[in-house]
Amino acid sequence: MKVTSAEFIISNSVVSKCPQEPLPEYAFIGRSNVGKSSLINMLTNHKNLAKTSGKPGKTQLINHFKINHNWFLVDLPGYGYARVSKSAKETFQKFITDYFEKREQLVCAFVLIDVRLEAQKIDLEFINYLGESGVPFCMIFTKADKLTRVKAESNVAAYRKKLLANNWEEMPPYFITSSESGVGRDELLTYIDQINEE
Ligand code: GTP
Ligand code: MG
Repeated sequence: MKVTSAEFIISNSVVSKCPQEPLPEYAFIGRSNVGKSSLINMLTNHKNLAKTSGKPGKTQLINHFKINHNWFLVDLPGYGYARVSKSAKETFQKFITDYFEKREQLVCAFVLIDVRLEAQKIDLEFINYLGESGVPFCMIFTKADKLTRVKAESNVAAYRKKLLANNWEEMPPYFITSSESGVGRDELLTYIDQINEE
């Protein structure tokens, strides 16, 4: 799929104020600083469409971007950036869980994971939460430019093992990406295009 247009539509923290059009949407979620906003810029070929930062906690709201006039990419705040330790449910802000539980236009969530890191408790908790809530999701392993392909693949294999050990029957569909090099861009856009066509 070619991205021919990408426009910012609205930011807010209330699910009922998200765009009302019945267009398919895809949301990026994951720990703060994992690269959600950067990936939106990479996919859309824009430098600053979504605001990014070297410091965690940059994205604070639900941000809708309309792509090719007929679907949405959604940038969400990260989780796991808290000074005090909290229970899992508290860690995921209420408006984020509201978004996943109420947003009918959501077709698929993409859970972003830093490919360099071992499976983190908070990501596993979030993945379990999505599973329990019946939200379809894929995984995206980010920052692949920081590792060799072989190392990235072996980290993904370790992640898969961890999920299976956590009572998941199988690894969800996954992508290995880099917003620096553009790796994974075609695969991800093709995947979204296929769902949009269904
Ligand atoms: P929050 O909005 O705080 O939740 O963070 P985010 O997940 O949106 O992360 P963001 O896109 O702002 O990126 C965080 C930092 O990681 C920035 O310094 C980016 O330049 C860097 N970064 C993001 N993606 C990549 C990547 O693929 N490769 C490398 N090397 N750096 C990346
Ligand atoms: Mg962000």
